[in-house]
Amino acid sequence: MRSTTAPVAAPVAPGRVPLLGHLPQLAVRRVEFLQSIRTRGDIVRIFLGNRPVFVLNSPEAVHDVLLTQSRKFGKGLLFDVARPFIGNGIITSEREFHIRQRRALQPAFHRDSIAACVGTMTGIAEEQVASWRPGETIAMDLVLRRMMTAMLVATLFSTERPDGAAAVAELGERVAEHLATVMRGVFVGTLLPAPIASSPALGHRGYLAAAQALRDLADTAVRQAREAGSEGRNGGDLLSIMFAGTPGKPEGMTDLEARDELLSLLMAGAETTSTTLAWALHELGRRPELTARMRTECDALPAGALPGAATLPFTDRFLREVLRLHQPSWLLMRRALEPVRVRGVDLPKGAELIYSALTMHRDPAYYPDPMRFDPDRWLDRTERDLPPGAYVPFALGNRRCIGDHFAMTEMLVVLRSIVSRWRPRPAAGHRVRPVVHALIRPNALPMRVSPWPAA
Ligand code: HEM
Repeated sequence: MRSTTAPVAAPVAPGRVPLLGHLPQLAVRRVEFLQSIRTRGDIVRIFLGNRPVFVLNSPEAVHDVLLTQSRKFGKGLLFDVARPFIGNGIITSEREFHIRQRRALQPAFHRDSIAACVGTMTGIAEEQVASWRPGETIAMDLVLRRMMTAMLVATLFSTERPDGAAAVAELGERVAEHLATVMRGVFVGTLLPAPIASSPALGHRGYLAAAQALRDLADTAVRQAREAGSEGRNGGDLLSIMFAGTPGKPEGMTDLEARDELLSLLMAGAETTSTTLAWALHELGRRPELTARMRTECDALPAGALPGAATLPFTDRFLREVLRLHQPSWLLMRRALEPVRVRGVDLPKGAELIYSALTMHRDPAYYPDPMRFDPDRWLDRTERDLPPGAYVPFALGNRRCIGDHFAMTEMLVVLRSIVSRWRPRPAAGHRVRPVVHALIRPNALPMRVSPWPAA
């Protein structure tokens, strides 16, 4: 039904320059720029060169686009750029195909499937932290990236491999290396016009080579799983789930579809958790009293109990606060698939939209003293007390993160393994700065680990 009230115009953000639009501001002060325009309106227009983009500022606008009117939106420019790199999997696909693929993958993310992975997750985390030595300086960001990629590969992708844990770890390491390069390529391609983004000076060939290497690894995983047949798989692993028929597609996924889903899950599930954990360790390093609290709680978890909000409430709250203040996805996009009105603004078909969970999570209108890291703020004011759309670490609606519970479980497992043995402290002489690419991550995170004194 057409609205009878007159539309409102979305104001243009200040500082637009001819030809480049707001690109210089986005290039230099990415997050600060988006933060600075939050008070200018529910929806504000910026220009990437001559291309207008609508920035969703208010929780209501985000909620409307992600949830209430979600069917009228596709994933937009960011994912157009990602598609040639990583194919047409769950994070890039649209409409009926996306619905079918999401339904087919869902069983891998049921609570029971995740509970069945906790042993493998714990094994990988324990093996890593057991190799640290008292007083050693650990490149925590790199270690976490390898650990989380290996965890994803082992829990979701691996068939019963005859070559065992070492092969999974090695595969995880190779995947992690290529992934970081591909994600940089997607980011460059989104912000810059195509001829500039694909220039050799910006490393375009490197991005393409890394994407090819990732595709090759995923192709091999699919081929091996097909060759192994159902006896070689444990039935609940991701590839078995993908090969199994669904009512919409009784023959299951093709090899190409399965390959693209592996790539989508790698893109979505490795860097996000490792970056969030890196920020978590950074905060623990600055606040030893929080590490002690977390350790007490984790040590009291009975053997066999699953890590979760009910069993580890402080650690869970701590992670929710990390996902607020250090939300790794600082910029996500949507595109209007038809003309649509949001918060009074008429968006034409094809309009590109940006939303930033990071800047929303740092808005003083919803979070008093927003830059203060305080897990206990969630005791006074829970998610339900906030306007819908104000806390969206895993997005909302039909494109909400399918791996949210999986990610929280993995991160609780890793924090528990680390704090049970070690007190991580920042390495002397290093200043942690945020680096903003596809995700927002620490520039480097060297940390010194020392054991707890004997009780
Ligand atoms: C801290 C960790 C994580 C965060 C903060 C996170 C956040 C998000 C967000 C914000 C989206 C929505 C993207 C958009 O609006 O365009 C998303 C989608 C997605 N995430 Fe996650 N994620 C995390 C971990 C994971 C993990 C571990 C997996 C898989 C194992 C995963 C799989 C996915 C998939 C497949 C989608 C696309 C869903 C769809 O379009 O239907 N994520 N995630």
